[in-house]
Amino acid sequence: MTVDLEVLPDAGSVARRAAMLFVETVRAAHADGRDAHVVVTGGGTGISVLAEIAQHADELDWARVHVWWGDERFVPHDSNDRNDVQADEALLAQVVIPTEQVHRVPASDGPYGDDPDAAAAAYAEELARHAPAGAPGPLFDVLMLGMGEEGHTASIFPHSPAAADARPVCAVRDCPKPPPTRVTMTWELLSHATEVWMMTTGAGKAAAVEAALSGADRMAVPAAGPQGRERTRWLLDQSAAGRLPS
Ligand code: 6PG
Repeated sequence: MTVDLEVLPDAGSVARRAAMLFVETVRAAHADGRDAHVVVTGGGTGISVLAEIAQHADELDWARVHVWWGDERFVPHDSNDRNDVQADEALLAQVVIPTEQVHRVPASDGPYGDDPDAAAAAYAEELARHAPAGAPGPLFDVLMLGMGEEGHTASIFPHSPAAADARPVCAVRDCPKPPPTRVTMTWELLSHATEVWMMTTGAGKAAAVEAALSGADRMAVPAAGPQGRERTRWLLDQSAAGRLPS
């Protein structure tokens, strides 16, 4: 597994670079005769990448793409706080993709009611339905993640129960970043990908980036945990890379 670090001039360049890599990655899966399985994320950086991918939407065959979420905010299905609602607006409403290939985490007003543990279990089952025997989910072609200033990624926060949860997907409560209740993939799934892309921008992330790239423990700095089978890419702007040796 290789770690690739790319430092780009600004947040817009990070989004454009990630979108370009996304197009290449999905096309490579299709050229291999496979559907592409991609994991998207929420947060400002993750959604700006989706908006940038929308600029290239017509370059891809979306009928052969499966979309998953590394984490989701556990709120009603039409809440603007949901990562999938934001992803719909930024990208998915603009492409023709079969509904059953957009794998949404059940909402708090969905079939499992206001029970994030049941929603997490249902999402784990959905992942397992698309997995090779014995695996927790499909091998994702790319799993995109953002990170927080204290080093969280997906909805795994430092020293939180999710960071020690052995199930492939779990509920998260009392999350320091609102909304407080979420559903997240955990370690095994977050590394069940050919490539993992950590995408982050801004000076506020610089200390956590430095820690994650210096071998920090994933309990303390969750962003240090996810690893792509073939490659882990860090796509940073100059501010987020501000504490790395030049
Ligand atoms: C979420 C996320 C979360 C996010 C980071 C970075 O649902 O909030 O999945 O892990 O990616 O907090 O968010 P920003 O890019 O907004 O800093």
